[in-house]
Amino acid sequence: MNKPKNFSDFFALSMTKFFRLIADTFFAKRYGHRAVVLETIAGVPGMVAGMLIHLRSLRSMQTGYGEQIREMLAEAENERMHLMFFIEIAKPNAFERFLVIAAQGVFMTFYLFMYIFFPKTSHRMIGYFEDEAVKSYTEYLNLVESGKVMNIRAPKIAIDYYNLHKDAQLSDLITSVRADEMHHAEVNHNYADNLNSSKEHNHNYKNPKELDSKEVA
Ligand SMILES: [Fe+2]
Ligand SMILES: [Fe+2]
Repeated sequence: MNKPKNFSDFFALSMTKFFRLIADTFFAKRYGHRAVVLETIAGVPGMVAGMLIHLRSLRSMQTGYGEQIREMLAEAENERMHLMFFIEIAKPNAFERFLVIAAQGVFMTFYLFMYIFFPKTSHRMIGYFEDEAVKSYTEYLNLVESGKVMNIRAPKIAIDYYNLHKDAQLSDLITSVRADEMHHAEVNHNYADNLNSSKEHNHNYKNPKELDSKEVA
């Protein structure tokens, strides 16, 4: 667990606890439904951050942003795939579909402005969100492995995506998805650690190795 070190981190952690409380209230132990709805939210931050850094690179007409743009867009794509796996496992009801539409409108707007003004806090918050996702998927995995939730066949789309064995089960899928969430947590906490202030962030995004290499975009 990445311990909060300053006000920015505490704010990010408080927001995470607040969102976790909402998720716990709505879904309790219905992990399949929880995964479907939360993955629709998880696909937002990478796209927002990737777009904003892309636009910054265009405005500044400078290289060095490519690695982070690609990483953030890949995160968004990966989260969208998580949604596609879990939609095969839990079909959302009408209320959950409404919730997804409302949550996308609210969260997308909130995160867009949060990232413009406080990119460091934004990455920290997503790092904490991802830590929570790892916990939730671990709880889900425990239920499946203990037999409380049926360990059904993994959907074909997930088997193809992760190159799993053809008889792979839900437990294999959850383990693979959890590994992705661990990676997202590490990446976002890392970005938060390396951003010093919103004023300096132009420079902090630059990866010196990338600038030195031939690939400069
Ligand atoms: Fe995810
Ligand atoms: Fe994630």
